[in-house]
Amino acid sequence: MAILGTTMKALVLRRHGGLDDLELLADHPRPRALPGHVVIRVRASSFNYHDVFTVRGMPGIKVPFPVVIGLDMAGEISEVGPDVAGWGVGERVLVNPVNRKKGLMGEMLDGGMAEYCLVAADQLISIPEGVRFEDAASLPVAYGTAHRMLVTHDTVHNGERVLILGASGGVGTGCVILARHLGAEVIACTSSAQKMQALKDMGASEVLNVNDVDFSRWAVEKYGKPQRRSHEGGVDVLINFTGGDTWVPSLRCVKRGGKVLVCGATAGYDPKEDLRYIWSFELKIIGSNSFYDEDLRALMRLIAEGRFKPAIDRVLPLEEAREGLRLIQDREVIGKVVVTP
Ligand SMILES: NC(=O)c1ccc[n+]([C@@H]2O[C@H](COP(=O)([O-])OP(=O)(O)OC[C@H]3O[C@@H](n4cnc5c(N)ncnc54)[C@H](OP(=O)(O)O)[C@@H]3O)[C@@H](O)[C@H]2O)c1
Repeated sequence: MAILGTTMKALVLRRHGGLDDLELLADHPRPRALPGHVVIRVRASSFNYHDVFTVRGMPGIKVPFPVVIGLDMAGEISEVGPDVAGWGVGERVLVNPVNRKKGLMGEMLDGGMAEYCLVAADQLISIPEGVRFEDAASLPVAYGTAHRMLVTHDTVHNGERVLILGASGGVGTGCVILARHLGAEVIACTSSAQKMQALKDMGASEVLNVNDVDFSRWAVEKYGKPQRRSHEGGVDVLINFTGGDTWVPSLRCVKRGGKVLVCGATAGYDPKEDLRYIWSFELKIIGSNSFYDEDLRALMRLIAEGRFKPAIDRVLPLEEAREGLRLIQDREVIGKVVVTP
């Protein structure tokens, strides 16, 4: 890539391993706009659990090193390349991190944890007035996915009981806020007293600490055992992106005809299965992957109208970005960690 003597600060991953393999460079080559692309001055970027997986390495994904990490970003266009129509310098944009040709930004090509980023023009979404860079940058991977899973797929409705595992994280807080927005009653499962309080403040009717309480038994005691011959007992919807040991207990507390929504598997993608629950209770297992521009536009509209606010745990400078990812890795955040390069 053409460098022209210009450099920038960037958080770069050189090899798979741990957080120590992330390096903050002050002299990383600054990108120049290629045909069909723009360069954005990144004003805010946010971390996801996906970044932890990128650092560790995931089976089947061959990351081209060195790579600037960070999937989510928002900023201003600083340079417009040839063959780009409809975008101008200074425009405020959110980036959909899915690049149609190469895959995910921050993984298969440079991402948002840097001062500048090269972005294909078809990945840009205009940020409406009244939406801050920090809020926009917290949306795509976590809240966009939650929006697709609950709203676009039309899975959660007014008055339903929705149990959410891992409720304090990015996708989790997105699910809590959106389920409340849709009029559902939320049971938020998390892992500390502090997170319980934060989730109560977000509107959850019930909060459980999964270190002290078996969520599945709790739900059966509270709402009754799901019945095979009626729609009594259990919860209407259970949201599980944790996988692992939580999978079978999840199936046991959903009412007949209820839904289990899945978009990830933080604690293991090949859990023990118990098919009896799926057929006996006519459960619907609904997968959801990723997010589309419509999800991100809809969320930004809600923010601009004052009807939705992303949960941002903290905003850090690029110099402290690595600590931000550690907080996510060690489950010490409520919502999103935003970085302002
Ligand atoms: N398919 C897609 O398009 C898509 C998009 C986004 C995310 N995802 C996936 O969804 C999952 C959540 O992503 P995220 O960015 O929201 O992550 P996150 O912000 O780190 O939140 C995950 C939450 O799960 C809980 N958790 C973390 N590690 C755990 C473990 N080992 N065992 C049990 N619970 C654990 C924690 O909540 P508590 O402390 O409250 O329990 C944590 O806050 C990830 O697996 C991610 O890969 C998939």
